[in-house]
Amino acid sequence: MQRPRVYITRRLALDPASVLGPGIEIDQHDSDLALPRAEFLRRAHGASALLPILADRIDTELLDAAPRLRIVANHAVGYDNVDVPACTARGVWVTNTPDVLTDATADLTWALILALTRRLREGESMVRAGNWPGWAPTQLLGRELRGAALGIFGYGRIGRGVARRAEGFGMRVFFCSRGGGMPFDDLLAQSDVISIHAPLTAETRHAFGAAELLRMKRGALLINTARGPIVDEAALVAALEAGHLGGAALDVFEHEPAVHPGLMGRDDVVLLPHLGSATRETRQAMATIALSQVELVLRGERPTHAINEVKHPP
Ligand code: DGY
Repeated sequence: MQRPRVYITRRLALDPASVLGPGIEIDQHDSDLALPRAEFLRRAHGASALLPILADRIDTELLDAAPRLRIVANHAVGYDNVDVPACTARGVWVTNTPDVLTDATADLTWALILALTRRLREGESMVRAGNWPGWAPTQLLGRELRGAALGIFGYGRIGRGVARRAEGFGMRVFFCSRGGGMPFDDLLAQSDVISIHAPLTAETRHAFGAAELLRMKRGALLINTARGPIVDEAALVAALEAGHLGGAALDVFEHEPAVHPGLMGRDDVVLLPHLGSATRETRQAMATIALSQVELVLRGERPTHAINEVKHPP
């Protein structure tokens, strides 16, 4: 009998055969780079399971091309790349990888807050370029965090992880989320630093547009380790150019991997290539969860990290 096939769209932090049993055929694009869309669709054809990353669009075109599909095991906690209702309508499970990346992402958020407030990028470039004239009392002065207000937009696992770490820095912490906290306008008006930790949805897309950025405190800092399109990048550039915001630190971008050219040359901006979950331990844990969801569904069992409810699996 033919074994069900899983199509894995990238190299993973572990060998998929170390998690999947021999009853599953593995078709892996063993590279960090995406395949052209046509090739991606071709390889998905006939697959019973798909293990994509956040940059792979899972839409009706893909679902049409992969009629045997039973599970999309997204290698991410976010799943805005997946048309979940379309999957549900076709009896396809969608799963994600929550919890295991909370600490890694909260840690990286703090790396960005500190990089921005203590001007690490500028200092590092100065030293590396051989332009450091020596210690001086007014050189590259940053900001103290103690007593400053940290506003957290989105208060799920990662937002709470960032808040816990803020205690150690003596910051005052506010949050605003679907489930409660302070009104968004108050968060904008009162925070010295705003850190974004919400999922990308129709409501949060461009939640930080021109008007909202203008309602932030003059000189405030914006940190985004969630999803790029939550911030209108062109409006952010305008707010920085106008001197209204004091800086931004971004791990995610509106049109990844492209970055708005207006951000590139700025000293008050820190840019990272979507590294939030990028520790070996976390990426191995994410791969293990995603692969185990594939194994469960292809064995006819219910996945443990389901996003949707599939009433009558095919
Ligand atoms: C996620 O999991 O959603 C991150 O953006 C990538 O780890």
